[in-house]
Amino acid sequence: MTKVTGTCDLLITHVHIATMDPSMGTGHYGELLEGAIAIDQGLIQWLGAAEALPANLQPKATLDGQGQWLMPGLIDCHTHLVYAGDRSTEFEQRLQGKSYSDIAQQGGGILSTVNATRRCSLDQLIEQSRPRLEALLCDGVTTLEIKSGYGLNLETELKILRAAKELELQYPVRIEKTFLGAHTLPPEFSGQADRYIEVVCEEMLPAIAEEGLATAVDVFCENIAFNLSHTEKVFQSARSLGLRVKLHAEQLSDSRGTQLATAYDALSVDHLEYLSNEGVKALENSTTVATLLPGAFYFLQETQRPPVEKLRASGIPMALATDLNPGTSPFTSLRLIMNMACTLFGLTPSEALAGVTIHAARALGLQDQEGMIKKGHTANLTLWPIQSPASLAASLTGETPSLTFYRGEARVN
Ligand code: NIG
Ligand code: FE
Repeated sequence: MTKVTGTCDLLITHVHIATMDPSMGTGHYGELLEGAIAIDQGLIQWLGAAEALPANLQPKATLDGQGQWLMPGLIDCHTHLVYAGDRSTEFEQRLQGKSYSDIAQQGGGILSTVNATRRCSLDQLIEQSRPRLEALLCDGVTTLEIKSGYGLNLETELKILRAAKELELQYPVRIEKTFLGAHTLPPEFSGQADRYIEVVCEEMLPAIAEEGLATAVDVFCENIAFNLSHTEKVFQSARSLGLRVKLHAEQLSDSRGTQLATAYDALSVDHLEYLSNEGVKALENSTTVATLLPGAFYFLQETQRPPVEKLRASGIPMALATDLNPGTSPFTSLRLIMNMACTLFGLTPSEALAGVTIHAARALGLQDQEGMIKKGHTANLTLWPIQSPASLAASLTGETPSLTFYRGEARVN
Protein backbone atom coordinates (compact mmCIF):
# COMPACT_ATOMS: atom_id res chain seq x y z
CA MET A 1 0.00 0.00 0.00
CA THR A 2 1.31 3.41 -0.97
CA LYS A 3 2.25 5.92 1.71
CA VAL A 4 0.14 9.05 1.63
CA THR A 5 0.89 12.37 3.22
CA GLY A 6 -1.04 15.60 3.30
CA THR A 7 -4.75 16.19 3.09
CA CYS A 8 -7.77 14.44 1.69
CA ASP A 9 -11.38 15.55 1.37
CA LEU A 10 -12.84 12.62 3.28
CA LEU A 11 -11.56 9.72 5.37
CA ILE A 12 -13.94 6.83 6.00
CA THR A 13 -12.92 4.53 8.84
CA HIS A 14 -14.34 1.41 10.49
CA VAL A 15 -15.63 -0.18 7.30
CA HIS A 16 -15.29 -3.60 5.74
CA ILE A 17 -14.42 -3.07 2.10
CA ALA A 18 -15.44 -5.36 -0.76
CA THR A 19 -12.91 -3.95 -3.23
CA MET A 20 -13.84 -6.35 -6.08
CA ASP A 21 -10.20 -5.92 -7.08
CA PRO A 22 -8.70 -9.38 -7.75
CA SER A 23 -5.28 -8.07 -6.71
CA MET A 24 -6.48 -6.81 -3.31
CA GLY A 25 -7.66 -8.25 -0.04
CA THR A 26 -8.94 -11.76 0.47
CA GLY A 27 -11.76 -13.96 -0.82
CA HIS A 28 -13.99 -13.58 -3.84
CA TYR A 29 -14.87 -9.99 -3.03
CA GLY A 30 -11.29 -8.75 -2.49
CA GLU A 31 -12.25 -8.10 1.11
CA LEU A 32 -10.41 -5.74 3.44
CA LEU A 33 -11.84 -6.17 6.92
CA GLU A 34 -11.63 -3.22 9.32
CA GLY A 35 -10.46 -1.00 6.50
CA ALA A 36 -10.21 2.69 5.87
CA ILE A 37 -10.36 4.74 2.70
CA ALA A 38 -9.28 8.25 1.80
CA ILE A 39 -11.04 10.20 -0.94
CA ASP A 40 -9.71 13.34 -2.55
CA GLN A 41 -11.11 15.35 -5.44
CA GLY A 42 -13.59 12.65 -6.31
CA LEU A 43 -10.98 9.91 -6.55
CA ILE A 44 -9.87 7.13 -4.23
CA GLN A 45 -6.57 8.33 -2.82
CA TRP A 46 -5.73 5.52 -0.42
CA LEU A 47 -7.28 2.37 0.99
CA GLY A 48 -6.02 -0.27 3.34
CA ALA A 49 -6.26 -1.77 6.78
CA ALA A 50 -7.11 0.79 9.45
CA GLU A 51 -3.84 0.15 11.28
CA ALA A 52 -1.86 1.00 8.12
CA LEU A 53 -3.50 4.42 7.85
CA PRO A 54 -0.80 7.06 7.30
CA ALA A 55 -0.42 8.89 10.62
CA ASN A 56 0.15 12.25 9.01
CA LEU A 57 -2.95 12.19 6.79
CA GLN A 58 -5.06 15.26 7.49
CA PRO A 59 -8.62 14.68 6.30
CA LYS A 60 -10.91 17.67 5.87
CA ALA A 61 -13.80 15.44 7.02
CA THR A 62 -14.13 11.99 8.55
CA LEU A 63 -16.91 9.42 8.59
CA ASP A 64 -17.26 6.46 10.95
CA GLY A 65 -18.61 3.62 8.84
CA GLN A 66 -19.80 1.75 11.96
CA GLY A 67 -18.74 -1.62 10.68
CA GLN A 68 -20.86 -1.47 7.51
CA TRP A 69 -19.75 -2.85 4.14
CA LEU A 70 -18.37 -0.47 1.56
CA MET A 71 -18.85 -1.64 -2.03
CA PRO A 72 -18.19 -0.13 -5.44
CA GLY A 73 -21.18 1.81 -6.78
CA LEU A 74 -23.35 -0.55 -8.81
CA ILE A 75 -23.24 -0.24 -12.60
CA ASP A 76 -26.22 -1.06 -14.81
CA CYS A 77 -24.59 -1.55 -18.22
CA HIS A 78 -27.73 -2.23 -20.32
CA THR A 79 -30.99 -0.28 -20.01
CA HIS A 80 -33.71 1.12 -22.24
CA LEU A 81 -34.79 3.44 -19.41
CA VAL A 82 -36.10 6.33 -21.53
CA TYR A 83 -39.45 5.42 -23.08
CA ALA A 84 -43.11 6.29 -22.91
CA GLY A 85 -46.23 4.17 -22.57
CA ASP A 86 -47.12 0.86 -21.08
CA ARG A 87 -47.10 -2.73 -22.34
CA SER A 88 -49.07 -4.54 -19.64
CA THR A 89 -51.67 -5.78 -22.11
CA GLU A 90 -48.86 -7.67 -23.85
CA PHE A 91 -48.06 -9.32 -20.55
CA GLU A 92 -51.67 -10.50 -20.45
CA GLN A 93 -51.44 -11.74 -24.05
CA ARG A 94 -48.28 -13.66 -23.34
CA LEU A 95 -49.81 -15.28 -20.28
CA GLN A 96 -52.56 -16.48 -22.61
CA GLY A 97 -49.99 -18.14 -24.85
CA LYS A 98 -48.90 -15.56 -27.44
CA SER A 99 -45.14 -15.37 -27.86
CA TYR A 100 -42.98 -12.23 -27.79
CA SER A 101 -42.15 -12.85 -31.46
CA ASP A 102 -45.86 -13.25 -32.41
CA ILE A 103 -46.70 -9.93 -30.74
CA ALA A 104 -43.76 -8.20 -32.45
CA GLN A 105 -44.71 -9.59 -35.86
CA GLN A 106 -48.26 -8.29 -35.42
CA GLY A 107 -47.01 -4.72 -34.91
CA GLY A 108 -46.93 -4.73 -31.10
CA GLY A 109 -43.88 -5.12 -28.93
CA ILE A 110 -41.12 -2.58 -29.54
CA LEU A 111 -43.31 -0.73 -32.08
CA SER A 112 -46.01 -0.06 -29.50
CA THR A 113 -43.42 1.73 -27.34
CA VAL A 114 -42.14 3.53 -30.44
CA ASN A 115 -45.63 4.95 -31.09
CA ALA A 116 -45.98 6.20 -27.52
CA THR A 117 -42.46 7.64 -27.46
CA ARG A 118 -42.88 9.47 -30.75
CA ARG A 119 -46.02 11.18 -29.42
CA CYS A 120 -44.30 12.52 -26.27
CA SER A 121 -42.58 15.86 -25.85
CA LEU A 122 -39.02 15.89 -24.51
CA ASP A 123 -40.29 17.08 -21.12
CA GLN A 124 -42.97 14.39 -20.93
CA LEU A 125 -40.39 11.77 -21.79
CA ILE A 126 -38.08 12.98 -19.03
CA GLU A 127 -40.92 12.96 -16.49
CA GLN A 128 -42.03 9.44 -17.45
CA SER A 129 -38.45 8.18 -17.20
CA ARG A 130 -37.52 9.92 -13.95
CA PRO A 131 -39.10 7.43 -11.49
CA ARG A 132 -37.24 4.58 -13.15
CA LEU A 133 -33.92 6.35 -12.77
CA GLU A 134 -34.68 7.22 -9.15
CA ALA A 135 -35.53 3.58 -8.42
CA LEU A 136 -32.20 2.44 -9.82
CA LEU A 137 -30.37 5.01 -7.72
CA CYS A 138 -32.13 3.78 -4.56
CA ASP A 139 -30.56 0.42 -5.23
CA GLY A 140 -27.02 1.82 -5.27
CA VAL A 141 -26.50 2.46 -8.98
CA THR A 142 -23.88 5.15 -9.61
CA THR A 143 -23.36 4.58 -13.36
CA LEU A 144 -25.74 3.30 -16.00
CA GLU A 145 -26.17 2.99 -19.71
CA ILE A 146 -29.27 4.24 -21.53
CA LYS A 147 -30.03 3.19 -25.10
CA SER A 148 -32.23 4.93 -27.62
CA GLY A 149 -34.19 2.65 -29.95
CA TYR A 150 -37.82 3.58 -29.31
CA GLY A 151 -37.75 6.41 -31.84
CA LEU A 152 -36.60 4.83 -35.11
CA ASN A 153 -36.53 8.23 -36.78
CA LEU A 154 -33.90 10.88 -36.26
CA GLU A 155 -36.15 13.30 -34.42
CA THR A 156 -37.28 10.79 -31.80
CA GLU A 157 -33.92 9.05 -31.43
CA LEU A 158 -32.42 12.48 -30.70
CA LYS A 159 -35.23 13.20 -28.24
CA ILE A 160 -34.51 10.00 -26.31
CA LEU A 161 -30.77 10.65 -26.12
CA ARG A 162 -31.34 14.28 -25.14
CA ALA A 163 -33.69 13.09 -22.38
CA ALA A 164 -30.92 10.78 -21.14
CA LYS A 165 -28.48 13.69 -21.23
CA GLU A 166 -30.86 15.96 -19.33
CA LEU A 167 -31.42 13.29 -16.66
CA GLU A 168 -27.65 13.03 -16.25
CA LEU A 169 -27.51 16.78 -15.63
CA GLN A 170 -30.25 16.55 -13.00
CA TYR A 171 -28.78 13.65 -11.00
CA PRO A 172 -25.25 12.91 -9.78
CA VAL A 173 -25.15 9.61 -11.69
CA ARG A 174 -23.00 8.95 -14.77
CA ILE A 175 -25.02 7.99 -17.86
CA GLU A 176 -23.39 6.36 -20.89
CA LYS A 177 -25.57 6.83 -23.96
CA THR A 178 -25.93 4.25 -26.73
CA PHE A 179 -27.62 4.69 -30.11
CA LEU A 180 -29.89 1.75 -30.94
CA GLY A 181 -31.54 3.01 -34.15
CA ALA A 182 -31.38 -0.57 -35.48
CA HIS A 183 -33.78 -1.90 -32.81
CA THR A 184 -36.61 -2.90 -35.13
CA LEU A 185 -37.92 -1.89 -38.53
CA PRO A 186 -40.25 1.15 -38.30
CA PRO A 187 -43.62 0.79 -40.11
CA GLU A 188 -42.77 3.48 -42.67
CA PHE A 189 -39.91 1.25 -43.92
CA SER A 190 -41.95 -1.95 -44.01
CA GLY A 191 -40.30 -4.40 -46.45
CA GLN A 192 -37.30 -2.09 -46.84
CA ALA A 193 -34.88 -3.12 -44.13
CA ASP A 194 -31.85 -2.41 -46.34
CA ARG A 195 -33.06 1.13 -46.97
CA TYR A 196 -33.74 1.72 -43.27
CA ILE A 197 -30.23 0.56 -42.37
CA GLU A 198 -28.87 3.04 -44.92
CA VAL A 199 -30.80 5.80 -43.15
CA VAL A 200 -29.45 4.63 -39.78
CA CYS A 201 -25.88 4.65 -41.09
CA GLU A 202 -25.91 7.68 -43.35
CA GLU A 203 -28.35 10.06 -41.66
CA MET A 204 -29.05 9.14 -38.06
CA LEU A 205 -25.65 7.98 -36.83
CA PRO A 206 -23.67 10.95 -38.17
CA ALA A 207 -26.17 13.42 -36.67
CA ILE A 208 -26.05 11.72 -33.29
CA ALA A 209 -22.25 11.55 -33.35
CA GLU A 210 -22.10 15.21 -34.37
CA GLU A 211 -24.09 16.20 -31.27
CA GLY A 212 -21.92 13.94 -29.09
CA LEU A 213 -25.06 12.15 -27.89
CA ALA A 214 -23.71 8.60 -27.86
CA THR A 215 -20.47 6.81 -27.11
CA ALA A 216 -21.60 3.44 -28.42
CA VAL A 217 -23.88 1.90 -31.04
CA ASP A 218 -26.05 -1.19 -30.55
CA VAL A 219 -28.11 -3.39 -32.90
CA PHE A 220 -30.84 -5.98 -32.24
CA CYS A 221 -29.49 -8.86 -34.34
CA GLU A 222 -32.29 -11.42 -34.45
CA ASN A 223 -34.68 -13.14 -36.83
CA ILE A 224 -37.42 -10.68 -35.81
CA ALA A 225 -35.08 -7.70 -36.17
CA PHE A 226 -31.87 -7.20 -38.23
CA ASN A 227 -29.58 -9.75 -39.86
CA LEU A 228 -25.81 -10.10 -39.78
CA SER A 229 -25.24 -8.07 -42.89
CA HIS A 230 -27.34 -5.16 -41.55
CA THR A 231 -25.48 -5.41 -38.26
CA GLU A 232 -22.12 -5.27 -39.98
CA LYS A 233 -23.12 -2.15 -41.93
CA VAL A 234 -24.04 -0.38 -38.69
CA PHE A 235 -20.79 -1.53 -37.06
CA GLN A 236 -18.77 -0.18 -40.00
CA SER A 237 -20.45 3.23 -39.77
CA ALA A 238 -19.98 3.33 -36.00
CA ARG A 239 -16.31 2.51 -36.39
CA SER A 240 -15.82 5.19 -39.04
CA LEU A 241 -17.23 7.73 -36.56
CA GLY A 242 -15.03 6.51 -33.71
CA LEU A 243 -17.88 4.95 -31.71
CA ARG A 244 -17.67 1.59 -29.91
CA VAL A 245 -20.18 -1.16 -30.69
CA LYS A 246 -22.20 -3.67 -28.72
CA LEU A 247 -24.92 -6.13 -29.67
CA HIS A 248 -28.23 -7.66 -28.61
CA ALA A 249 -27.15 -11.16 -29.62
CA GLU A 250 -28.47 -14.71 -29.48
CA GLN A 251 -31.54 -13.79 -27.39
CA LEU A 252 -34.17 -15.82 -29.29
CA SER A 253 -31.97 -17.79 -31.70
CA ASP A 254 -28.32 -18.28 -32.67
CA SER A 255 -27.72 -15.62 -35.30
CA ARG A 256 -23.90 -15.76 -34.94
CA GLY A 257 -23.95 -12.12 -33.89
CA THR A 258 -21.35 -12.75 -31.21
CA GLN A 259 -18.75 -13.85 -33.76
CA LEU A 260 -19.36 -10.68 -35.78
CA ALA A 261 -19.36 -8.43 -32.70
CA THR A 262 -16.05 -9.77 -31.42
CA ALA A 263 -14.51 -9.13 -34.85
CA TYR A 264 -15.49 -5.47 -34.33
CA ASP A 265 -14.00 -5.43 -30.85
CA ALA A 266 -17.45 -4.96 -29.28
CA LEU A 267 -17.68 -3.77 -25.71
CA SER A 268 -20.24 -6.46 -24.96
CA VAL A 269 -22.67 -8.94 -26.40
CA ASP A 270 -25.89 -9.09 -24.45
CA HIS A 271 -28.57 -11.76 -23.69
CA LEU A 272 -26.78 -14.90 -25.11
CA GLU A 273 -29.35 -17.57 -24.24
CA TYR A 274 -28.66 -19.23 -27.63
CA LEU A 275 -24.89 -18.66 -27.69
CA SER A 276 -23.10 -21.54 -29.47
CA ASN A 277 -19.75 -23.15 -28.65
CA GLU A 278 -18.22 -21.15 -31.51
CA GLY A 279 -19.63 -18.01 -29.95
CA VAL A 280 -18.00 -18.90 -26.65
CA LYS A 281 -14.70 -19.46 -28.49
CA ALA A 282 -15.00 -16.08 -30.19
CA LEU A 283 -15.51 -14.42 -26.83
CA GLU A 284 -12.57 -16.29 -25.35
CA ASN A 285 -10.28 -14.78 -27.99
CA SER A 286 -11.59 -11.25 -27.50
CA THR A 287 -11.96 -8.50 -24.91
CA THR A 288 -15.74 -8.47 -25.33
CA VAL A 289 -17.83 -8.92 -22.18
CA ALA A 290 -20.74 -11.40 -22.03
CA THR A 291 -23.65 -9.46 -20.52
CA LEU A 292 -26.43 -11.64 -19.12
CA LEU A 293 -29.95 -10.27 -18.72
CA PRO A 294 -31.91 -12.62 -16.47
CA GLY A 295 -34.82 -10.17 -16.16
CA ALA A 296 -35.76 -10.72 -19.82
CA PHE A 297 -35.18 -14.49 -19.49
CA TYR A 298 -37.55 -14.58 -16.52
CA PHE A 299 -40.20 -12.24 -17.92
CA LEU A 300 -40.39 -14.03 -21.29
CA GLN A 301 -40.48 -17.41 -19.49
CA GLU A 302 -37.51 -18.49 -21.57
CA THR A 303 -36.27 -21.97 -20.82
CA GLN A 304 -32.91 -21.99 -22.59
CA ARG A 305 -30.27 -20.63 -20.22
CA PRO A 306 -27.13 -18.89 -21.45
CA PRO A 307 -24.12 -21.24 -21.30
CA VAL A 308 -22.85 -19.92 -17.97
CA GLU A 309 -20.69 -22.96 -17.16
CA LYS A 310 -18.86 -22.65 -20.49
CA LEU A 311 -18.41 -18.90 -20.12
CA ARG A 312 -17.06 -19.43 -16.62
CA ALA A 313 -14.72 -22.25 -17.69
CA SER A 314 -13.36 -20.04 -20.47
CA GLY A 315 -12.73 -17.15 -18.10
CA ILE A 316 -15.05 -14.81 -20.01
CA PRO A 317 -16.15 -11.82 -17.90
CA MET A 318 -19.90 -11.99 -17.25
CA ALA A 319 -21.68 -8.71 -16.61
CA LEU A 320 -25.29 -8.44 -15.44
CA ALA A 321 -27.78 -5.70 -16.20
CA THR A 322 -31.46 -4.92 -15.75
CA ASP A 323 -32.23 -4.53 -19.49
CA LEU A 324 -34.86 -2.19 -18.04
CA ASN A 325 -37.54 -1.87 -20.74
CA PRO A 326 -41.35 -2.00 -20.88
CA GLY A 327 -41.68 -5.20 -22.90
CA THR A 328 -39.26 -7.85 -21.73
CA SER A 329 -37.72 -6.66 -18.47
CA PRO A 330 -39.80 -4.09 -16.60
CA PHE A 331 -37.56 -4.11 -13.53
CA THR A 332 -35.72 -1.27 -11.85
CA SER A 333 -33.71 -3.22 -9.27
CA LEU A 334 -30.23 -4.34 -10.16
CA ARG A 335 -30.21 -6.32 -6.92
CA LEU A 336 -33.26 -8.30 -8.07
CA ILE A 337 -31.31 -9.04 -11.26
CA MET A 338 -28.34 -10.25 -9.17
CA ASN A 339 -30.67 -12.56 -7.30
CA MET A 340 -32.19 -13.85 -10.56
CA ALA A 341 -28.71 -14.46 -12.00
CA CYS A 342 -27.97 -16.72 -9.03
CA THR A 343 -31.29 -18.54 -8.91
CA LEU A 344 -31.97 -18.82 -12.66
CA PHE A 345 -28.48 -18.94 -14.19
CA GLY A 346 -26.40 -20.45 -11.39
CA LEU A 347 -24.04 -17.55 -10.75
CA THR A 348 -22.54 -17.27 -7.28
CA PRO A 349 -23.30 -14.13 -5.24
CA SER A 350 -19.71 -12.97 -5.75
CA GLU A 351 -20.01 -13.51 -9.53
CA ALA A 352 -23.25 -11.53 -9.41
CA LEU A 353 -21.56 -8.65 -7.60
CA ALA A 354 -18.63 -8.77 -10.04
CA GLY A 355 -21.25 -8.70 -12.81
CA VAL A 356 -22.60 -5.33 -11.69
CA THR A 357 -19.24 -3.81 -10.76
CA ILE A 358 -15.92 -4.80 -12.36
CA HIS A 359 -17.38 -6.56 -15.43
CA ALA A 360 -20.17 -4.01 -15.97
CA ALA A 361 -17.52 -1.28 -15.97
CA ARG A 362 -15.64 -3.16 -18.69
CA ALA A 363 -18.88 -3.58 -20.66
CA LEU A 364 -19.04 0.24 -20.77
CA GLY A 365 -15.32 0.69 -21.47
CA LEU A 366 -14.90 2.29 -18.04
CA GLN A 367 -12.70 -0.36 -16.44
CA ASP A 368 -9.84 2.05 -15.75
CA GLN A 369 -12.09 4.38 -13.76
CA GLU A 370 -14.91 2.39 -12.19
CA GLY A 371 -16.07 -0.98 -10.95
CA MET A 372 -13.48 -1.58 -8.23
CA ILE A 373 -12.48 0.16 -5.04
CA LYS A 374 -8.97 0.91 -6.12
CA LYS A 375 -6.49 3.75 -5.78
CA GLY A 376 -6.98 6.27 -8.57
CA HIS A 377 -10.50 5.06 -9.44
CA THR A 378 -13.52 7.35 -9.24
CA ALA A 379 -14.95 7.37 -5.71
CA ASN A 380 -18.32 5.92 -6.70
CA LEU A 381 -19.14 3.89 -3.61
CA THR A 382 -22.04 2.43 -1.67
CA LEU A 383 -22.18 1.82 2.08
CA TRP A 384 -24.49 -1.01 3.12
CA PRO A 385 -25.87 -1.97 6.55
CA ILE A 386 -25.39 -5.68 5.88
CA GLN A 387 -23.48 -8.55 7.48
CA SER A 388 -21.89 -10.02 4.38
CA PRO A 389 -21.34 -8.91 0.76
CA ALA A 390 -23.33 -11.96 -0.35
CA SER A 391 -26.45 -10.21 1.02
CA LEU A 392 -26.64 -7.99 -2.01
CA ALA A 393 -27.65 -10.96 -4.14
CA ALA A 394 -29.10 -13.15 -1.43
CA SER A 395 -31.83 -11.05 0.15
CA LEU A 396 -34.17 -8.34 -1.02
CA THR A 397 -35.48 -7.40 2.37
CA GLY A 398 -35.44 -3.64 2.23
CA GLU A 399 -31.80 -2.81 2.88
CA THR A 400 -30.67 0.12 0.79
CA PRO A 401 -27.32 1.89 0.89
CA SER A 402 -27.09 4.11 3.95
CA LEU A 403 -24.94 6.36 1.80
CA THR A 404 -24.07 6.47 -1.88
CA PHE A 405 -20.97 8.38 -2.97
CA TYR A 406 -20.90 9.88 -6.44
CA ARG A 407 -17.38 11.07 -7.29
CA GLY A 408 -16.75 11.30 -3.56
CA GLU A 409 -19.94 13.27 -2.74
CA ALA A 410 -22.18 11.48 -0.22
CA ARG A 411 -25.92 11.35 -0.76
CA VAL A 412 -28.89 9.49 0.73
CA ASN A 413 -31.18 8.37 -2.07
O1 NIG B 1 -33.28 -6.14 -24.70
N1 NIG B 1 -34.26 -7.38 -27.48
C1 NIG B 1 -34.49 -6.23 -27.82
N2 NIG B 1 -34.69 -5.20 -27.03
C2 NIG B 1 -35.18 -5.27 -25.71
C3 NIG B 1 -36.64 -5.43 -25.67
C4 NIG B 1 -37.30 -4.25 -26.13
C5 NIG B 1 -38.78 -4.29 -26.05
O2 NIG B 1 -39.45 -5.34 -26.17
O3 NIG B 1 -39.32 -3.18 -25.88
C6 NIG B 1 -34.47 -6.34 -24.90
O4 NIG B 1 -35.03 -7.33 -24.45
FE1 FE C 1 -32.05 -4.74 -24.32
